[in-house]
Amino acid sequence: MFRIAVLPGDGIGREITPQAVKALKAVGQRFGHGFEFEEALVGGAAYDATGHPLPAETLAMCCRSDAVLLGAIGGPQYDELPVNLRPEIGALLPLRRELALYANLRPCILFPGLSHASTIKEEVISGVDVMVIRELTGGIYFGEKSRGVNAGGDVTATDVLTYSVAEIERIVRFAYGVALKRRHKLCSVDKANVLESSRLWRETVTLLAAQYPEVETSHMYVDNCAMQLIRDPRQFDVIVTENMFGDILTDEASMLTGSIGMLPSASIGGEVGLYEPSHGSAPDIAGQNKANPLATILSAAMLLRYSFDMETEAQAIENAVHEVMKQGYRTPDLAEPGMKTVGTAEMGDLVVARILAPETGAST
Ligand code: IPM
Ligand code: MG
Repeated sequence: MFRIAVLPGDGIGREITPQAVKALKAVGQRFGHGFEFEEALVGGAAYDATGHPLPAETLAMCCRSDAVLLGAIGGPQYDELPVNLRPEIGALLPLRRELALYANLRPCILFPGLSHASTIKEEVISGVDVMVIRELTGGIYFGEKSRGVNAGGDVTATDVLTYSVAEIERIVRFAYGVALKRRHKLCSVDKANVLESSRLWRETVTLLAAQYPEVETSHMYVDNCAMQLIRDPRQFDVIVTENMFGDILTDEASMLTGSIGMLPSASIGGEVGLYEPSHGSAPDIAGQNKANPLATILSAAMLLRYSFDMETEAQAIENAVHEVMKQGYRTPDLAEPGMKTVGTAEMGDLVVARILAPETGAST
């Protein structure tokens, strides 16, 4: 029996998460696995109910589960709360830290029929397959934050960016491990021409590179990488980078998949992995059965692959998503003339049908 903690969170999180749960149940049924789901509040929903965005019960439930599936958190009504009660800082970052999720994986693959949805030209993104690995528990996100006043009486704000060799080594070794299972290319992204933390990052990668002669290691400045990702994304196999650069580059890289509504993520490293779509809670379309559940459903596939070592089962979900896309079904974010527009729940049903009956091409 595998225990999965389900944290729908806020906004569209409450609509998309049930679709991923349906997909996991379908996998359980087809492959004979017992998945047990336990739900808890997180983010604004938890703040409204308990006064804190990450209640102790929620964290305890995550710790005793085998994996965590998260929807999305946050909303404009929480933006004015004291910083440590805001959903992002009060829930998401502590979850990452408490579960020791130092490695964040965001695979950018262009889905069939989605090249038109991207703002990037089709000839640039066709065939793209980039894995971005973002360090997730260090750097400026977790450094000391303070306000002060300088000698001239002007108010100042400070965010400290620290990395240790051990932290860099851990994520870079992880990235080499991934590169060895892919096309044996690793690009380490930094800003070593300006930042001391990046110089330590680059030195550490350079030393490690000697231990992985089978992998072609390269270094790139983050500004150049932002440009190269849309100039020629096929040059990349695995990208490894620090926390904030990874945050920015993965939003950019999501356009390589056609839409951010398609980009899943896995956060691993500790005993319990956490899986969530890379997009936010989209309060503007919440509750309207319009949100695209595929990034969350694909995150469930990553959950099977990385937490349960179920490669065939993960592929069953991914193939089902490919199939549904190929057959022209789209949620409104990707609607195009000639395509069949469906709502959030219907999209979930279509994927479930193809997980359960892959060989029949499942009609619904
Ligand atoms: C992400 C998000 C988060 C981050 C926010 C919501 C704190 O943008 O997962 O990429 O910056 O890490
Ligand atoms: Mg982000």
